[in-house]
Parts: sequence; C-alpha cells; structure tokens
Amino acid sequence: MKVPFYSLDYVNRDLGNTLSDSVTHVLESNWFIRGDRCREFEEAFAAYCGAKAVVGVGNGLDALTLMLRASIILGRIAEGDEVIVPANTFIATVLAVQAAGLVPVLVDPDLETCNLDVKGLQGAFSPKTRAVLAVHLYGRLADMPAICEFAKARGLLVFEDAAQAHGAVFNDRRVLSNAVAFSFYPTKNLGALGDGGAVVTDDVELARVVRSLGNYGSDQKYVNRYAGVNSRLDEIQAALLLAKLPHLDAWNNRRREIAARYCAEINNPLVRVTPLPQNLYSHVWHIFPVFCESRDDLQGFLKARGVETLIHYPVPPHLQQAFNGAISRGELRYGKLPVTEELARTELSIPMGPSMTDDQVSYVIETINAYAR
Ligand SMILES: Cc1ncc(COP(=O)(O)O)c(C=O)c1O
Repeated sequence: MKVPFYSLDYVNRDLGNTLSDSVTHVLESNWFIRGDRCREFEEAFAAYCGAKAVVGVGNGLDALTLMLRASIILGRIAEGDEVIVPANTFIATVLAVQAAGLVPVLVDPDLETCNLDVKGLQGAFSPKTRAVLAVHLYGRLADMPAICEFAKARGLLVFEDAAQAHGAVFNDRRVLSNAVAFSFYPTKNLGALGDGGAVVTDDVELARVVRSLGNYGSDQKYVNRYAGVNSRLDEIQAALLLAKLPHLDAWNNRRREIAARYCAEINNPLVRVTPLPQNLYSHVWHIFPVFCESRDDLQGFLKARGVETLIHYPVPPHLQQAFNGAISRGELRYGKLPVTEELARTELSIPMGPSMTDDQVSYVIETINAYAR
C-alpha cells in the first residue's frame, strides 16, 4: 500500500466544482485585490474565530510581522524589546520577530507537548521581556491559560502563531491573546491555492494598523501614514478560502479521529508517541509527530514500505546560518536548548490529513509497530 504524507484529494472530494466556480466568479467580477470576496472571507473567518477583526494579508510570515510591527506603531511594545519564542518552530516565527525590530529569545519547549510552557517562560524572562509569541506547533494548542497568566502578572503582551492551528479551540474560544497570526499556505488545515495569511484580533485599532501596513501604510489612496509593505489577501485566494471554511471543522474532526487511533494503537517501544491529550478537541493535528532515536532508519523503513514521512524540523532556527549575524550582535538570544535539539534529532511526521482512509491509518500503525532496528 502507498500512503502519501499528505494529499489534497479531500478538497476536490468534498468541494466538487465549488472551487472552480469560486474562481470563475472572481474572473467575471474583474476585481482582484481588496474587493468583496476578501471582505466576505474576513467577516466569515472573524465569525468562525469569534473575533472582532480579521485582516487578510499575503502570507503567514507577513501576518506575524505586521501584527508585531503594528503593536510597535501603537506603542504597546518598542523596537529592541525581547519577545519569548519557542526554539522548535518553523523559521518564519523567528524571522518575523527579527523583521519587526524585536529581539527573539528562544526557549526550549516541553518535551511531551512540543509547546512553550511556563517553565520555559520563567527561564527566559528578563527585565527587557515585553511579549510572548506562542506557537501552536503541529496544531496542538499551547497551554494558553498558563501562558496568559504568566504574562498578565508581568505586564507582557501575548501573541499566537496559529499557522498550523486553524480551528484549535479552548473553552469555545479561538483568540486567546492580543492577536493571532494565520497562514493559508495550501497544505495548512485551512489552505488557499497559493499564499495567504491573516491577523485575527479583538483589538480593532491593531487591525486597522495591520491593514494599513499591508497596503503600503495607507488607509486613504496616496496618503501614506506608515512605511508599509504590499501584503494583501487577493480575491481569488479569499474566494477559495470562503468556499473551504464551512468544511474546516469536519476536516479537523477527521484529523482528531486519526490522531486518537495513532495515540492508542502505536505501541512500538522504539517509537515515542505523546499520550492522547485529555482535551483532544482543542487540538487540530496539522502534523502528527512521533519520536525515535533511530529516526532516519525508521524513515527509511517506512519509505521502503510505501509510507511517506517528513521531518519538522531537522535544523532548528538557532542553528541556521541565517541567524549567525543576529546571534553575534545579540539580536537573537538563547541559552542551552537540549529539548529542541533532541526534537530535531528524533522527530518524524507520519501521514495525517482528511484524505486518509481507515485502511491507510491501519497500515501506517501496523508498519510502525513492525519496525525493529
Ligand atoms: C509555525 C509557522 N509559522 C509561520 C509560518 C509561515 O507561513 P507562510 O508560509 O504562509 O509564510 C508557517 C508556515 O509555513 C508555520 O508553520
């Protein structure tokens, strides 16, 4: 049997001609940027997230960067302030903090959840700390109540990188901080058919500045209040997202079913699987990670048997050449990161997604359980 790491077949299966109809509709409208489809998607996503404002932008990196830059413009944080960020994230999280003129302080996550926890925050907190940027890595919601309590006691802002966590929810709430950044990269739980992103917030002033920054710093044609960029969610991507959004919960539920089976049925002592979380419903399982000391060997074993896997992420941001200069100038800080380095060495992402059949899930479980060094 062949099991691809991820397949977008489910989109066509569930949406039929709806996506091509959405594109045709935009083509016929002759309006491609800053139009009705973007506004409708922003409203629909705001209602879905239970948030006051959504601003569509060009991609997830821009969503993160503009959310932070807008916070600086509004005087809520200042250039040079430290922002605590988990060290085991996709590089975009760290690039955004740096691009906004803030100092990322990388901390080890909890080994089991792979997410930021209060222990990490305590270790990284300094008098210069002004914000925390939590990442819901792998679609697993970070412990936001504890993070927010820590932040509140010290007057810190909290932001969320939810690029991998569309639909993640805690006590019926989807915005658990000052602002949340999403990516709509095609393979995300809610993906466009190109690049896209959004900032979601209850802070309407912040949303206004993000919108302006993404439009050359302009609210009014040819009047530029800020030194902005060009980062807007185009009409075609917005129309496609609008068509897909009503299916997101069903797709996430299928991911939850698969995750529950993986947690319960993978029982190879060489392969560590995090126990099924009590709040299974909170998480949206963008990626399902397993951990193995002989990770590359396991990956080869699975590949030889038709099971495709990926690694998220083989080289953590602090070991990337891109940051050598920033680290030596003190513009990116971190201490020892043994957990992050262990995760980079042992993590393997196994197939996950709404296209998977029960037989494929069973085959992945059987094949992993058959692995021996
Ligand atoms: C955790 C995380 N943050 C940020 C991003 C950046 O999103 P984009 O690729 O849309 O710029 C991604 C996605 O690739 C991501 O996984």
